Amino acid sequence: MQPKIGIIGGTGVYPDKLEIVNEIDIHTPYGSPSSSIAIGVMNGIEVAFLPRHGKNHTIPPHMINYRANIYALKQLGIERIISPCAVGSLKEEYKPGDMVIVDQFIDFTKSRKYTFFDGPKTEHIAIPDPFCPELNQIAEIECKNLKINSHNNGTCVCIEGPRFSTRAESKMFRQFADIISMTIVPECQLAREMNMCYMSLATITDYDAWSEETVDAMTVSKVMEENSEKIRNLLGAIIPKIPVKREKCNCPKTLESSAL
Ligand code: ADE
Repeated sequence: MQPKIGIIGGTGVYPDKLEIVNEIDIHTPYGSPSSSIAIGVMNGIEVAFLPRHGKNHTIPPHMINYRANIYALKQLGIERIISPCAVGSLKEEYKPGDMVIVDQFIDFTKSRKYTFFDGPKTEHIAIPDPFCPELNQIAEIECKNLKINSHNNGTCVCIEGPRFSTRAESKMFRQFADIISMTIVPECQLAREMNMCYMSLATITDYDAWSEETVDAMTVSKVMEENSEKIRNLLGAIIPKIPVKREKCNCPKTLESSAL
């Protein structure tokens, strides 16, 4: 099997529609990925699946080996990554249970490995639009077809975690972002450094600390659990719609003009 689509599953996202054919242990120059990678078939399409936080959710966001995860998928020949994740809302109109097809991120992480190019090979990728427009468009259409409440654009601020934000931080983030996560950075940019397409399918689990309701970890996993079937149905609808060839986006050319 030679899948071209990879799913990096987040909190509570384990694809029961995936008929697993093989589980592969991969080692990379950056260490081991979060778990073995399952290779299988979803709605007739070959896909690879990697649980971001490990099989038993033992790896917190700031300890994930993002480089090993992306490198391992690249080694398998994956060209496009779909990345479901849980996010908090920074705006009233982005409601818990809604999906967001993320189109921008702002990086407020602090201590991660952000690049495959630590020297002597030096690359400065340009990612004004970091998420794949073709994948995002497919997701928009499928959300509409499935009548899922979704937001076609969303700016996501990514924090270091593992703690949630203070009220003051959250009120500041509200000035320039719609949603908040702990994992989009550096996963997205590392995928682009490998010329891969990347889409983030974010499920809103809570109003962040700016609101009266605030947020806690139990709420996040409960809301993800309640929405898991919807996310699985959406993945199942999106995957067969993805064209085999990448002709409508510039993601495969990311590295072309990045070296000095
Ligand atoms: N993931 C889910 N909810 C979150 C929040 N409020 N802040 C950061 N990451 C989250």
